[in-house]
Amino acid sequence: MRPRAETSDREEGCTCVGKQCGCLLVKRELLLLFFCYFLITRDSRQQFCREHSQMKTLIVGVGGVTNGGKSTLSQFLHQKIHNSCIIAQDTYFKDDCVVPVDSNGFKQYDTLDALHMEKMMKEVYCWRKDPHEFLRQRGLIAKNASTDDELYVLIVEGFLIFNHRPLNEMFDMRYFLEIPYDICKKRRSMRVYAPPDPPNYFDGYVWPMYIQNRKEMEIITSEIVFLDGLKPKDEVLAAVYEDIRQEIARLQGQS
Ligand SMILES: Nc1ncnc2c1ncn2[C@@H]1O[C@H](COP(=O)(O)OP(=O)(O)OP(=O)(O)O)[C@@H](O)[C@H]1O
Ligand SMILES: [Mg+2]
Repeated sequence: MRPRAETSDREEGCTCVGKQCGCLLVKRELLLLFFCYFLITRDSRQQFCREHSQMKTLIVGVGGVTNGGKSTLSQFLHQKIHNSCIIAQDTYFKDDCVVPVDSNGFKQYDTLDALHMEKMMKEVYCWRKDPHEFLRQRGLIAKNASTDDELYVLIVEGFLIFNHRPLNEMFDMRYFLEIPYDICKKRRSMRVYAPPDPPNYFDGYVWPMYIQNRKEMEIITSEIVFLDGLKPKDEVLAAVYEDIRQEIARLQGQS
């Protein structure tokens, strides 16, 4: 006669014998695998939900002449607008050694060729794909902040942002700060640049390039709000903020 098998730890329908039943181990491993799969896919699922949710976005371009006040305005907007961030064109300059010199011996910094525009565009596309994740990765948002019906604002600032067609086409709102030649020259002379401006750089290169780039910009786009950078700082900042605030309210009012 065969001995009776120990059945206390066995699963129903399981014919295995003993405490370390193989079926139980397989089930535990399957559970573990399922749990890992859940964890791995959770981020992708959250990203998918964000990409297909009611999330709204607004891309604001802040362009203008050198020392027109682009960075001042952008920082102010970023501080005032919830879920906003800045991408600054100044941070995409190519290395000094690859920037060519013109016939007058001036480094040609004021052209799109002096900038890593493809890298800048990648950053903008990255934000557009998932603004929430973009902010989270840069520590600009709480990890578990709600994403439902949120509105995200990207501020892109720089002196040639409207001259690059693919970037220009992405803007919902465009602002351009202008100041006259003498004020611009004075403000620039008070700044310290790295590398520093060589003698006559402003008159011999910076200002003529500004005139040329501005003409090109006006051919590419006409939907720009020009701002008088001579007006008191507070007035300029408040006017632009109010404009954007109204646009945000309009977008949030849409279902
Ligand atoms: N409306 C304003 N009135 C007076 N001064 C201003 C105004 N806006 C900015 N400034 C001053 O002008 C200088 C240049 O400002 P800012 O750095 O914002 O200009 P920018 O356009 O970003 O310059 P850059 O081309 O070098 O990046 C700063 O000293 C700033 O405080
Ligand atoms: Mg600046």
